[in-house]
Amino acid sequence: MRLDQVAESVGGAIKRKKCQAMEGLIEEGEEMMEEKEDSEALDAGLILAAQKVEHYEIASYGGLRAWAELMGHTDAVDLLQETLEEEKNADQKLNQIAESVANLEAERQE
Ligand SMILES: [Fe+2]
Repeated sequence: MRLDQVAESVGGAIKRKKCQAMEGLIEEGEEMMEEKEDSEALDAGLILAAQKVEHYEIASYGGLRAWAELMGHTDAVDLLQETLEEEKNADQKLNQIAESVANLEAERQE
């Protein structure tokens, strides 16, 4: 796993810890799914929930990359940058999906 490589590159080890914020985001998404179950807004809501997760990941990996940069851990910077780009791409894809869902919705209402 890439994070293990990051840890290795800085001579450390990873201690796994449950992420409360991510758990909250997932819970919020599940709640929204129940509330919007029969609604046309379900797709838009699901995309939004997924984007919140991506944005949280972008903030986390971006912060870690900045720390690695400050500490001169160039290998870790490269590895974290790769992950950061993947998360940004995922967010971009979700944006595109959100737009096409919105367009379909608009067409359906015409
Ligand atoms: Fe992600």
